[in-house]
Amino acid sequence: MMTVRTVADLRGELDAPRRAGRTIGLVPTMGAFHDGHLELIRRARMENDVVVVSLFVNPAQFGPNEDLEAYPRDEARDAALAEELGADVLFAPPLEEVYPDGFATTVGVAGLTEVLDGHPERRGPDHFAGVTTVVTKLFNMAQPSAAYFGQKDAQQALVIEQLVRDLDIPVRIEVVPTVREPDGLAMSSRNAYLTDEERRRALGLSRALEAANREVAAGRRDAPTVLAAASSELEASGIVPEYLELRSADDLSPAERVNGRTLLAVAARVGRARLIDNVILGDR
Ligand code: PAJ
Repeated sequence: MMTVRTVADLRGELDAPRRAGRTIGLVPTMGAFHDGHLELIRRARMENDVVVVSLFVNPAQFGPNEDLEAYPRDEARDAALAEELGADVLFAPPLEEVYPDGFATTVGVAGLTEVLDGHPERRGPDHFAGVTTVVTKLFNMAQPSAAYFGQKDAQQALVIEQLVRDLDIPVRIEVVPTVREPDGLAMSSRNAYLTDEERRRALGLSRALEAANREVAAGRRDAPTVLAAASSELEASGIVPEYLELRSADDLSPAERVNGRTLLAVAARVGRARLIDNVILGDR
């Protein structure tokens, strides 16, 4: 595996395979790999001739009170893991390669970015503008045939699907199911912030989603019933959610009932960590 740090070197690596008609799979990440990231790399490896993993902790998507400084970083470990899974190129640019002096452009998606995590009092629309700007840049830098995102960040995946539709970016977006710890906790780089006691309480998130799933399986599909089942699991773990909402899994419009693919999304602070999780209900 090659590690490259400039757009010129990345293009240098990809020009020949692209001209030869090889497919290029891109896995955008901020590093601190766990099995969720690794699953994206595995999928990309299975479906493409060339696999590029990008590693860039993107300051533009962190709010002023977020964990940019504390965000876990270990490039050597990440590089070893990516290489083990057969990635061909690790693209790990320094800050000034992505945002050189004078950088002045923002790519923003309206609508989808204004709810859930995009609510102004949560991460705000600037968070998603930071994501869509850097992801647009990564797409233009690598010009991949396919790019891989996790269902763990369901709203992010929907925003990126809308971005490529709206801007006619020629890339196929693949969304990979959420990878969980054996007990159900969704894997996240931010789980590293949890103490043992917080780690136990954090399980309330996935338990809440499972409780909602059981309601739906038992035929109780109205929002108040489904949300009450999820809420009582959160309460049992001492978790006060930032949000717990039922929305259409296709356009994030509010859902009164689980009808078709319905997203149940939750966010909560547990100790220092802000955790999110979600499940798609009614999908059978
Ligand atoms: P990061 O948080 O590093 O996540 C990289 C990718 O891994 C995202 O697509 C995310 O949804 C996916 N992922 C994280 N946890 C997962 C899990 N438990 N199961 C499956 N997939 C999981 O998301 C970002 O970085 C950034 O916003 C980025 C897209 C790289 C733009 O900066």
